[in-house]
Amino acid sequence: MHPYPGTLIKVEGPEGGGKSTFVRWAAAQLRTQGYQVINSFEPGGGHMRLREALMELNKSQHFCRSADLVYRELVYIFADRTLHYEKLVRPALEEGMVVLLDRGVDSTLAYQGYGRCDGDPGMLRYIREANEAATGGIADDLTLLFVVRPETGMNRKKQQGQMNRFEEEGIKLARAVSIGFLTEHELHPGHFTLIDANPEEEVVRQEAIAIILAHLDRWQGQDLRACS
Ligand code: TMP
Repeated sequence: MHPYPGTLIKVEGPEGGGKSTFVRWAAAQLRTQGYQVINSFEPGGGHMRLREALMELNKSQHFCRSADLVYRELVYIFADRTLHYEKLVRPALEEGMVVLLDRGVDSTLAYQGYGRCDGDPGMLRYIREANEAATGGIADDLTLLFVVRPETGMNRKKQQGQMNRFEEEGIKLARAVSIGFLTEHELHPGHFTLIDANPEEEVVRQEAIAIILAHLDRWQGQDLRACS
């Protein structure tokens, strides 16, 4: 939660669930309904150079231990998130806007905490603490989890032909990440609203936008639309 008049909605999930396309589409839909919306994404919402550095880590470095890789990933992720919340997310919430984000801390828990460190409790705790500092304690008001079978997600990514470093690692990481998201869901029931992202795009879109609209309708009884 947070003390600001706006609302923070985040879309999370493994690769190939259609999150990024959905966030851009949903932002446009909400704007046509009169909401003041900012949509953004991580990594890169704080500074694109930090996203590039994260994506190119393995090209320039040789890692003696896998622990070196995960800590370097976390440096870029949290530097980016700190800038993102300071310069964009918090000011927009203060202004009473709807902030729609593609990924955040749940991805860090799933990829770095579960994907890289097998759900090590010390690492999960470290990620939560670092996240608290990076976001200034701002938490989502609604978190959608787009659940897609890892094989389906990977095939979609391959067909799109735009694989990043994490996707190129293949199905083993994708499965560990999926299990990570679902484990977090079991451990913290009520945090995620689950969306089945396996069906065709239009079906997924309609289900997800209906949940967002219902959330906005009841958001502290406030109307976040600019014109009303
Ligand atoms: P994207 O393709 O959804 O923009 O995300 C880029 C990659 O970054 C994606 O493969 C997952 C990864 N990632 C992490 O490993 N940890 C994080 O905390 C975030 C936000 C993304």
